[in-house]
Amino acid sequence: MPTTIPNQKKAWQERLAALKNIPPVLLLMWQSGRAMVAAMLGLRLVVALLPLAGLWVGKLIIDTLVGAVKHPGAVPREIWFYLAAEFAIAGLGSILGRAIDYCDGRIADRFSREVSVRVMRHASRLDLASFEDPVFYDKLDRARLQANDRLGMLNAMGQLLQQAITLASLAAGVIVYSPVLFALLVLTVAPAFLGESHFAFLGYSLAYSLTPMRRELDYLRDLGTKREGAKELKVFGLGPYFLERFTRINDEVIGRTRRLAGRRLRVGAMLALVGSLGYYAGYAYLVWRTLEGALTIGGLTFLAGALAGSSSQIQQVFSTFSGIADQSLFLSDLVEFFAMKPRIAVAAHPVPAPRPIRSGFEFRKVSFHYPNAARAVLKDLELRIEPGERVALVGENGQGKTTLVKLMTRLYDPTAGRILLDGVDLRDYDPESLHGEMGVIFQDFMRYDMTAAENIGVGRVEAMGDRERIVDAARKSRALATIGKLGDGLEQLLGRRFEGGVDLSGGEWQKIALARAYMRQAQVLILDEPTAALDAMAEYEVFQRFAELTEGRIALLISHRFSTVRMADRILVLEDGRIGEQGTHDELMGSRGRYSNMFELQAASYR
Ligand SMILES: Nc1ncnc2c1ncn2[C@@H]1O[C@H](COP(=O)(O)OP(=O)(O)OP(=O)(O)O)[C@@H](O)[C@H]1O
Ligand SMILES: [Mg+2]
Repeated sequence: MPTTIPNQKKAWQERLAALKNIPPVLLLMWQSGRAMVAAMLGLRLVVALLPLAGLWVGKLIIDTLVGAVKHPGAVPREIWFYLAAEFAIAGLGSILGRAIDYCDGRIADRFSREVSVRVMRHASRLDLASFEDPVFYDKLDRARLQANDRLGMLNAMGQLLQQAITLASLAAGVIVYSPVLFALLVLTVAPAFLGESHFAFLGYSLAYSLTPMRRELDYLRDLGTKREGAKELKVFGLGPYFLERFTRINDEVIGRTRRLAGRRLRVGAMLALVGSLGYYAGYAYLVWRTLEGALTIGGLTFLAGALAGSSSQIQQVFSTFSGIADQSLFLSDLVEFFAMKPRIAVAAHPVPAPRPIRSGFEFRKVSFHYPNAARAVLKDLELRIEPGERVALVGENGQGKTTLVKLMTRLYDPTAGRILLDGVDLRDYDPESLHGEMGVIFQDFMRYDMTAAENIGVGRVEAMGDRERIVDAARKSRALATIGKLGDGLEQLLGRRFEGGVDLSGGEWQKIALARAYMRQAQVLILDEPTAALDAMAEYEVFQRFAELTEGRIALLISHRFSTVRMADRILVLEDGRIGEQGTHDELMGSRGRYSNMFELQAASYR
C-alpha cells in the first residue's frame, strides 16, 4: 500500500492553520503556573546571551595573547580578569541550565495535570452518542495522549525563545562585520529547514492515518494477553489466528513508517550537506580576510565562532519551530475535542424534574434511528407509563428495548415525536435533575475495579460515606450475602485489575450493580435485564423486592424470562419499532398473540 501523501498545498495550509493552536496552549501553560513560567523565561533570557559574551571574552584573550607573544615582556594584567570572566560565563551557563530544567519539569507536571483534568471534565459533559461513534473515539484517544505527548512542546517553546535571542545576538555580531556573510548563511540553511519541516509533516500525516491500525493492534494485543479473553482463546484455539492478524497489521505499520524514514534520511542528509557548504564558504572568506590583514586573530576566532554559532542556531531555531508546528498539528485533536458540543442540548430555561411524578411518561409518535444508521429502531411509538406501575418490556433481541431506555433517560433525543414526563417534554428538563430522579442499571453495567462499598456508593456519590445506606441498598439487592463472604467485606477490592482484588461471578456482580440502583432512591427505576445472570431463586426474590420497593414509583423492567415478566402489572411487547400488544399476563395469554406464543415456547421447554 502506498504511503498516503496528502495534497501538498493543502498540507502547508493545514500546517499554518495549526499554528493558531499554539496561543491557547501558551495560555494554558501560563495559567497552570505563572511564577514558574516567569522564572523560566527570565533564566532563558540570561542564558541566551552567554554564547555571545563567551565569544567576545575569547576574542579579547586571544588578541591579548597574540600581542604578548609579539612583544615579550610583562604579562598583561587583564588576561587574568578575562580568564575569570570566561570561567564565570561557563559556570553560569551550566548552573542556569539546570535551573531551567527544574522549571521545565515543574511546568510540565502542572500542565499535564491541567490538560488531563480538562479532558476528563469535557468528556464527562459529552453525550453517549459521541462515545458510541468510532470517529469521536479516535479523536478522544488522540486527545488523551496530548496531555503527556505534547509536554516536549512546552520545553521547545522556551527553547525557541532562547535560541532566537542567541541567534539575534550572534547574527548581530556577524552582520556588523559583513551583511553578505550572513545572507550567505541564511540561504544555505533554508533548504535544510524546508526539507526537515516537510518530512515532519509527512510523518504527522502518517501517524494520523495509522491511528485506526494502532487501535486495532492494541486491541489484538489485549485480546491475546488479557485474562478476559484467555478462556475462549484456549478453547477455540484462537491464539495463532490473532497472532497472525497482529503480525500482518504490525508489518504494514512498520513498513510504512520505514519507507518514510528512509526518504527522510536520504533527502535530509543532502540538504544538511548544503548547509555545511555555506558555513565553510563563509569560513574560507574570513581566513582570506585575516591573511590580508583586515582581521586580527581574535577577530577571526570571534567571527568564525559567531558564524558557526549562527549557523547552528538558525538550524536549531528552524527545527525547534518546525517541531512546535508539528506538535501544534497534534493539538488540533485536543482543540477540536474541546470544541465538541454535546448534541443533547440543555434548554434555555430548564425546569427541574417533578417530585413527585404525577402523570408519568408519555411517548407521542416517537421515532428514532441512531446517528449514521439508516434503519429506524422505533417508529411512531405510542406509550404511557404511570406512577405506581410496574411495567415489563419484552421483545426479541435487537427490537429496541435498550434504545427505548436510552430515550427515556435522555441519553439520546428522539429523531421525531416527543417524550413527555408529567406533560413536559424531556428536552425542557434540566438533564442533571432528571437523571437525579432515575435509577438505571443497563445491560452492560459497569464493574468498577474499586471496593464493594464504592461499587454501590457510586449509585449516589453524595452518599458515598453513608455506610447504613450502602448496607441497606445491598440488602435490597441481595448483595449483602455476597459481600459477607468477601475477606474485607465492604472494603474488599473487587475486580482483578489491581493487586488484592477479588473477582465475582456474573450474578454476584449483577446484585452489586442492582444495589447501585437502590442507592438512588429514585422515582424512576429502570432495570435492563437485571436478572439475566441470577439464579431462579435470586431472581424471584429480586422481583418480589422490586415490587415492594417501587410502591408509588415508576418501574420498568426488561427481561427475557417470562417467569419474572408475568409478575408485572402490565407487559409491553415491543415489535417492529412499536408496542405490538400490551396488558397483564392473563390478558395477553387470552388474546393468543405474540406474547402468548413466546411464553408458550419458553414454558414448553420446562415441561
Ligand atoms: N449505538 C448504536 N449505534 C447504532 N445502532 C445501534 C446502537 N445501539 C443499538 N443499535 C441497533 O439498534 C437496534 C436496537 O438495539 P437495542 O440494543 O435497543 O435492542 P434490544 O431490544 O435491547 O436487544 P437485546 O434484547 O439484545 O438487548 C439493534 O438493531 C442494534 O443493532
Ligand atoms: Mg437490550
